[in-house]
Amino acid sequence: MRRILVKGGKKLQGEVSVSGSKNAALPILAATILTHGKSTITRIPDLLDIRTMIRVLRSLGIRAEYAFPNTVHTWVNGGLKHIAPYELVTKMRASFFIIGPLLAKTGHARIPLPGGCAIGSRPVDIHLKGLQALGAKIFMEHGFVIGEAKKLTGSRIYLDFPSVGATETIMMAATLAHGETVIENAAREPEIVDLAAFLNKIGAKITGAGSEEIKIQGVSSLGCCEYDIIPDRIEAGTLLIAAAATRGDVLIKDVNSLHLEAAISKLREAGVMLGIRGTSIKVNVPNGIKPVDIKTLPYPGYPTDLQPQISALLSLSSGTSVITETVFENRFMHAHEMRRMGANIKLEGQSAIITGVNKLEGAPVKSRDLRAGAALIIAGLAAEGETLIEDIDQFIIRGYEGLDNKLRNLGAQIKELKNISEYGYDEDIS
Ligand code: UD1
Repeated sequence: MRRILVKGGKKLQGEVSVSGSKNAALPILAATILTHGKSTITRIPDLLDIRTMIRVLRSLGIRAEYAFPNTVHTWVNGGLKHIAPYELVTKMRASFFIIGPLLAKTGHARIPLPGGCAIGSRPVDIHLKGLQALGAKIFMEHGFVIGEAKKLTGSRIYLDFPSVGATETIMMAATLAHGETVIENAAREPEIVDLAAFLNKIGAKITGAGSEEIKIQGVSSLGCCEYDIIPDRIEAGTLLIAAAATRGDVLIKDVNSLHLEAAISKLREAGVMLGIRGTSIKVNVPNGIKPVDIKTLPYPGYPTDLQPQISALLSLSSGTSVITETVFENRFMHAHEMRRMGANIKLEGQSAIITGVNKLEGAPVKSRDLRAGAALIIAGLAAEGETLIEDIDQFIIRGYEGLDNKLRNLGAQIKELKNISEYGYDEDIS
């Protein structure tokens, strides 16, 4: 368990660069199962989840190496194993995404069923229905999902919900299927477009990624390539919100602002000034933060992965905001913690009613998931006094590459506490 101490009240100032996208890198690494030969993928963030995915690939017999900075090389030549280790898949849900490419490449997959997680039950039924529609036999045995298919066959698949992971699973599986697959009501996230671009670069025939209908014409084999991952839109959004919450003045570099349209529009509605020039966004807050209502939705709607962070910002607005979470059923855990810091948040079903307060106060709090951790850091940066955030592992090493360092470079007073006894003493952490 790791802890972070944040001393609030300092405006963030300066320049910061955004890392590569975790949620694009994970499925692209899974997709290397489909490759043949050596691939080199750059702008891979150095995160625990990425290391876990590399270990999953190695467990299948793929040679995969992390090369500093931010590069992964993979070599796929001979036969692959088709069993993923329990301890890795249960550590990270995204490792389940290997089921599609593994089934397509080897005809077999034996993957532990991922458990629930902090933000909801997160089933995989849409992934499995999609694979069945491609002709795979899917069954459960002793906690493992077993998939078998001599040859997958293209099919027309309507997704009950535009699940990001299920769209990725089906897209990867269909690349080597016989004939054409059409995914209707597909997820449209930029990470889907990035995965399709990678797959096309190794020889797949995919059109329509980024729209509701994706077409995949199956091919008999795939090659290898060099590929550069897109910037992380969730990290960029987190930095924008952190800068706004501290009334800072920050230039965020290496961003694709087109991937952030919903967040940018909501931040502007809240009174945040955002100047976009090429791949940079300049943030400042000339006046106060105004309340706004937000509903999380699949892309291009407002991202659920930026919901906790904007809740922290709106806790300091001049009125009442209503945030409705429609993607995950249990994503307001940060609200209970932010109340301990003086936020006025009432939960009603799928909505959080946030009435702005004049100030937040530092307090000991717990990070229940990755994005909740980010929200608590933002609240801590904007609060008066010291905030001790416990269980921060999810934040520092799983989801954001070097974010504590990046924030420190912007003037934030934030440090990891090696010893709990450090908390409560009037020590200078600047
Ligand atoms: C991905 C992102 C995650 C983000 C989420 C929604 C990665 C590694 N993670 O997760 O950060 O929060 O998209 O933008 O890319 N669902 C089902 N059955 C399924 C699959 C999903 O009911 O088979 C439900 C989920 O429980 C959830 C909703 O669909 O309520 C959205 O999930 P999904 O889009 O699949 O998210 P992930 O791919 O898991």
